[in-house]
Amino acid sequence: MRVRYLKTAAIAVALTFAAGTAVPAAAQQATAQAPKLRDPDVIYVPTPQEVVDAMLKMANVSSKDVVYDLGSGDGRIPITAAQKYGARGVGIDINPQRIQEANDNLAKAKVSDKVKFMNADLFETDISEATVVTLYLLPTLNVKLMPTLKKLKPGTRIVSHSFDMGTEWPPEKTESINGRTIYYWTIK
Ligand SMILES: C[S@@+](CC[C@H](N)C(=O)[O-])C[C@H]1O[C@@H](n2cnc3c(N)ncnc32)[C@H](O)[C@@H]1O
Repeated sequence: MRVRYLKTAAIAVALTFAAGTAVPAAAQQATAQAPKLRDPDVIYVPTPQEVVDAMLKMANVSSKDVVYDLGSGDGRIPITAAQKYGARGVGIDINPQRIQEANDNLAKAKVSDKVKFMNADLFETDISEATVVTLYLLPTLNVKLMPTLKKLKPGTRIVSHSFDMGTEWPPEKTESINGRTIYYWTIK
């Protein structure tokens, strides 16, 4: 238990501090071409594909769902939801370089009719059409999102990689995949 806590805390500290590190020249160029939002609240670290698969399975995603990944990185979660389950997917990322990568991956994945990516701040975007929300952020960001998540339609499922919502909103289910924990809630 203590080992898992220390591992999770180490990931959170690494994500928090690395958010302030310098970006490579190519990324700076991509950023310069797009309208500047603000700095990301957390750096990009992709969820391993086997954990993505487990998150979508845990949420019982189907073709009726609209899957929102908040902080969508290279787009793997919405793209997988569309490819594997025929769901609609929406990815939101504040970093234009991530949106460029996600759109490149989307073109290769041939599910452009089902998925879109938005270069926006997840805290300022309307996510009310979501029926599934996926997260890989930070504990503090999950807690900050809690009021928005709780206003989503009853039955909406939330799955978070690595981080829970604190003691105020305990998960209904958890699962461990290759040392990563995923957490599950439903909106009542
Ligand atoms: C840890 S990565 C997770 C990427 C992806 N969801 C996955 O699981 O593979 C977090 C992502 O959140 C994005 N991000 C950070 N702050 C954000 C914000 N306020 N609005 C939108 N995206 C944000 C970062 O640019 C980064 O791509």
